[in-house]
Amino acid sequence: MNDTVPLALQLAWFVTTLLFIVGLRRLSSPNNARSGIWLAGLGMLIAIASMYFHPELRQNQVLILAAMSIGGGIALLHAQRIDMTRIPQMIALYNSLGGIAAGAIAMLVLLNVSEHGVLVKSLAVLGGLIGCIAFSGSLFAYLRLRGYFSRRSGFAQRQVAYIASGALVMLLGLILAASSTAHPVLLLLFVGLAICFGILMTLPTSAADMPVLISLYNALTGLAVAFDGFVLENPAMVVAGTIVFAAGSLLTRLMARSVNRRLSEIMYSGFGITDEAEATSTDKDHVNTIDSRDAAVDMAYAGRVVIVPGYGMATAQAQHKLRELTQLLDERGVQTSFAIHPVAGRMPGHMNVLLAEAGVPYEKIQDLSDINAEFSQVDVVLVVGANDIVNPAARDDADSPLFGMPVLDVDSAKRVIVLKRGDGTGYAGVENPLLFAPVTRVLFGDARDSVQDLILAIKGLE
Ligand code: TAP
Repeated sequence: MNDTVPLALQLAWFVTTLLFIVGLRRLSSPNNARSGIWLAGLGMLIAIASMYFHPELRQNQVLILAAMSIGGGIALLHAQRIDMTRIPQMIALYNSLGGIAAGAIAMLVLLNVSEHGVLVKSLAVLGGLIGCIAFSGSLFAYLRLRGYFSRRSGFAQRQVAYIASGALVMLLGLILAASSTAHPVLLLLFVGLAICFGILMTLPTSAADMPVLISLYNALTGLAVAFDGFVLENPAMVVAGTIVFAAGSLLTRLMARSVNRRLSEIMYSGFGITDEAEATSTDKDHVNTIDSRDAAVDMAYAGRVVIVPGYGMATAQAQHKLRELTQLLDERGVQTSFAIHPVAGRMPGHMNVLLAEAGVPYEKIQDLSDINAEFSQVDVVLVVGANDIVNPAARDDADSPLFGMPVLDVDSAKRVIVLKRGDGTGYAGVENPLLFAPVTRVLFGDARDSVQDLILAIKGLE
């Protein structure tokens, strides 16, 4: 550790590191996740506050405080106004800021090359390159999720530009790392090319796959911060960056796996759904409908009911009503549980968070791998605002854009009741044969209202 750093600061970094590690550990279970976030946040606060005791940070303190207050204030207001469904966008935007901050630190080091050895300069080049890629890639992903740039560019031109910018930026990086004098113009070109490379990396990915890519950029920002931490001899940055890199890489892998795709497929071939596939809609006249009273009878006299929540449960905020419904069924002796698909909703763990918030016991939640073999023994599956995650075409139709994505095999249950508002398709914009299956009945209406009607109807039964 650096001798010029006061002992108090080194201790603060040590405490920060511990808080990050314990915080992340607690995030691995929904029961402890809230306290994990608080602990990691406390670690970050200590890391920032302790920097005021750094001997090299005695100047420009007013400017630093002003920048932090403005940035922190904007983030606080923005985060309070964001609803759950826009969390992936928010993560992409904030990650882009993390990327550019990491890139800017590296650029400053490269502007003062005479003070540093080759190793430090090489690490700064890596930090700068990865930070700039994470910045532009995340920002572009954010814009895509906001609905801008929804059309993908021609693959052939993109590939040429991608390879050329990649090769050039690496060449410039080598020159900058080996040089003993500052080259502001080369540095500017290096930054510009790294930014282009990030955009080109994001271009072929469809909006449906964007969350996986955002998770990858999150991991890359962590890596850039870790490199910067080595350059600045700041162990808290090294540890925080490495943790973000490791956690982000694992999450990326898990998310890609849960849609049964390799990361290379997501990045280089595009999924081709939502923004390009012709959106179809559910023909309301060809589905079998059911009213809330008949649906309530089906559920109240069933032996086992499984609820499959999806994005529509989140938009309708129906999770509290669903907990009430399951309590009512449990009291009647019906066995109830929730089946959660890993990409249900719009962010990892979306359904788990909402159900935990509504007080649904953790033991009632079953993963896709556990429940799929059991659906044939289930009397009623209640699909609440879910579409893509229960679309059998992903399993049976090789031409479907969803083909290959593991889905919940609800169509093997004895009866399926789908709650939806109208003829909307899911995120992928493709028709769902489940809606026309002989076992399926559709209860039209907002999910929260429909579940409320089911509760009233069950209460009204003898
Ligand atoms: P979706 O496929 O988006 O289907 C949502 C369904 O809910 C639609 O059928 C819609 O039909 C219905 N709905 C919407 N609002 C409703 C309301 N207020 N009341 C009742 N029904 C409502 O959702 P899913 O099955 O959860 O699948 C998730 C999709 O999002 C996947 O394709 C996944 O790849 C993608 N994705 C996931 C993530 C993560 S990490 N979870 C991130 C981004 C994208 P109506 O409009 O007719 O009501």
